[in-house]
Order: sequence, then structure tokens, then C-alpha cells
Amino acid sequence: MSLENPTANNTITQRPRRLRRTETLRRMVRETNLTVDDLIYPMFVMEGEEDKVEIASMPGCYRFTLDLLLKEIAEVYSLGIGAIGLFPVIPESKKDDRGSESHNPDGLVQRTVKAIKQAVPGILVITDVALDPFTTHGHDGIVDESGVILNDSTVEVLVKMALSQAEAGSDMIAPSDMMDGRIGAIRQALDKAGYIDTRILAYSAKYASAYYGPFRDALDSAPKFGDKKTYQMDAANAREAIKEVALDIAEGADIIMVKPALAYLDIIRKVKYYTNTPVAAYNVSGEYAMIKAAALNGWIDEKKVILETLLSMKRAGADLILTYFAKEVALMLHK
Ligand code: PBG
Repeated sequence: MSLENPTANNTITQRPRRLRRTETLRRMVRETNLTVDDLIYPMFVMEGEEDKVEIASMPGCYRFTLDLLLKEIAEVYSLGIGAIGLFPVIPESKKDDRGSESHNPDGLVQRTVKAIKQAVPGILVITDVALDPFTTHGHDGIVDESGVILNDSTVEVLVKMALSQAEAGSDMIAPSDMMDGRIGAIRQALDKAGYIDTRILAYSAKYASAYYGPFRDALDSAPKFGDKKTYQMDAANAREAIKEVALDIAEGADIIMVKPALAYLDIIRKVKYYTNTPVAAYNVSGEYAMIKAAALNGWIDEKKVILETLLSMKRAGADLILTYFAKEVALMLHK
């Protein structure tokens, strides 16, 4: 468009408002759309029967026992949601300092994946790979005596975890741990074991963020000492996100992710321009909690704010959005 002043000759030739006059016109020239196909629903599973517990800092989100989770998944699938992300609540008694329960073939995640694939075969199950729900210290990796998170020995455990999930029938493995080289190691191990079609959704640009607080409440997985800044990214860095994304794609990621989403829309944008690989954004627990809190106070129009927020992620370049709003949005889009 010309930078010259269009009104210089006193004639307005361009009137952008013409195309905003009716809803039909607005729909015709709409550049971005949010659909149920874009949504992935993160869900929490816990041990037990016939029980669900609402997460205090995430109103409307629950930890479900497997039986109730299956019913909920059948419902969300019928609403058109094609994929769920699965996160386990591991009892303290099953945690250790190496997260061994993460690769127990009869562990909660493994049993849950099998049950979902039987009960609702069409839904795509995405399983999280990281040690934090399984470790007594709450870190995503193995910790040495001095408190350092060890990279390569952690990757060995993550590989076992990914293999046991693939074995259980997981459709997509999603490493959220931020260890170096884990995508390549997992891809090679999956291929070697014959799981050539098990996909990898890489949490590539995952920032050390305060927006994960409510999620850590949901899983009782907050780190018992220190923080995650030696493995998750520094919030100030954008170029480094491209470096991480490039590595994950070279190592075999099928989809790459930016997380969190809202405070990192510029990163989603940059990453989208950099790659032809599909880009996912994680609308994380703290982003969910802020909208819910304001809505519960009657301070915002919840439905409109949810749609506008998710649309901003699409506009920034996200092809897929992991969001705790998925079910609510599916219901809204159906109307
Ligand atoms: C852990 C993991 C986290 C989330 C997803 N996987 C938390 C963390 O890194 O501490 C956060 C999701 C959310 O806040 O919604 N590997």
C-alpha cells in the first residue's frame, strides 16, 4: 500500500469501513478462523474409581479417575475435538528420584492410553514425556548431589518412557522436558523398535514461565528446590527459540510447539515464518486461570474473551492450540 496520504487530493478513494458493514462481508474478508479442528484438550488422570476433583486454581478443569475420564473423552470426541493431551497425577508413594514409574508398562499413563484407545479409538492420544510428575523433587530430569539436572542420563529415561507409551498405543509423543538431544534420541529409539509412525510433538520453545503455576497444583508437581531455568528457556530470548526449533526439526519432530502462548505471540510468529512444520501453541494453565478469575468476578465477557484470545494465537501463526478451554469452545462453535 502506498504510504502517501490518500486524502491529499481531498478525495477518499479507500474506505475500509465498506467491508465492515455487514456480518456477511466481515466473514468474507476474515483472514483467520478458529475451528474445533485446531484444538487439543489437555486432561488430567488420577488413580481411583468414580471420582473427579476440580482443580482449585483451574475452575472447570478436573482430575478424573480412568472410568470417568473415558466418559468425558467420549463426550469431547462427539463435540468434534480430535485430540487430547494426557497428564497423570502420580501418588507420592510411586515417586522416586529417577522417575522410574514413568516407564512402568502398567503405570497410570500406559493403562490409561490402552483404555482410551479401546473405548474411543478415533481420538488421538498425545502423551507427555517429562519426569516431573514422577520425581520426588519435581524436576523434569535426574538431579545429581549438587542439584544439577543431568542431561544425558535423563534422556535415557525419557527414551524408555516414550517407548513404553508407544507400546501402550500412544499416537503422539510430546516431550516437554527441554533436555538437549531428546527428540533425536526418542525418534531413533521409536524407529528401531518399529514405531515408525508414532509422531513426535516437540515442546521446542518452552520458556521458564510463572504461567505454569496452576498446572503444578493440578499435578502436585512443583519443584521442591530451585527452579527450571537451567533447562527451560529465558523469557527474554527470541532468536534462541529459532535455534531450538531448528534442532528439534533436524532431530525428527513432526510438530513443534511454543509455550506459553499469550505472552509469546511474537515467538509463535517468528517460528511460523521460519518453518513449514506445523506449529502448536500451548495456552497454558495460568492463561486459563486469569480469564476464569476475571470471568468469575464478572469483570469480563468470558466467552468473547476466550474466542478473541485463541484467535490471537491463530493470527500469530499457530496451526494447533492446546487449551483447557477446548471443550467450552467446541460447545460455543457448535451453536
Ligand atoms: C511439565 C509440564 C508443565 C506443563 C506441561 N508439561 C509444567 C512445567 O514445566 O513445570 C505446563 C502446562 C500448563 O501450565 O498448562 N513437563
